[in-house]
Amino acid sequence: MKLTRRYRFSASHRLYSDSLSEAENRAIFGKCANPFGHGHDYALDVTVEGPLDERTGRIVDLDVLDRAVRQRILEPMEHRNLNVDVPEFVDGLFVPTTENLALVVRDRLVSAWREFFASETSAFPLVSLDRIRIEETKRNIFEVATK
Ligand code: NI
Repeated sequence: MKLTRRYRFSASHRLYSDSLSEAENRAIFGKCANPFGHGHDYALDVTVEGPLDERTGRIVDLDVLDRAVRQRILEPMEHRNLNVDVPEFVDGLFVPTTENLALVVRDRLVSAWREFFASETSAFPLVSLDRIRIEETKRNIFEVATK
């Protein structure tokens, strides 16, 4: 069975790569390359998959999922400038497009998974990440599988 939980956070970004010239950045990213960036209210959907625990009728402990997402994604990114506040993007080469943001979210949650869910004491040791979906605007929605 699958469950999708929605989270929201706001952050700013500038689409600009140091590996491209000013003119190339302008041609590729248009106004999204403006020097001071712009913000989005992102909706982040995290889908998990696992067997139904018959005793509780659940597949995941939502408090634990919330804690993992809050600690690894929301707190480090909420009201931040992705280009300068999120280590994965600070080199100026990995552009904080929402495609790449989805990869960062995926990688962070995959690496947190063992700590939060796969431990021997977890009530849901078999639950796994299924996909990450980020809605940047009503028209731009990005999705990445996690396995
Ligand atoms: Ni943007």
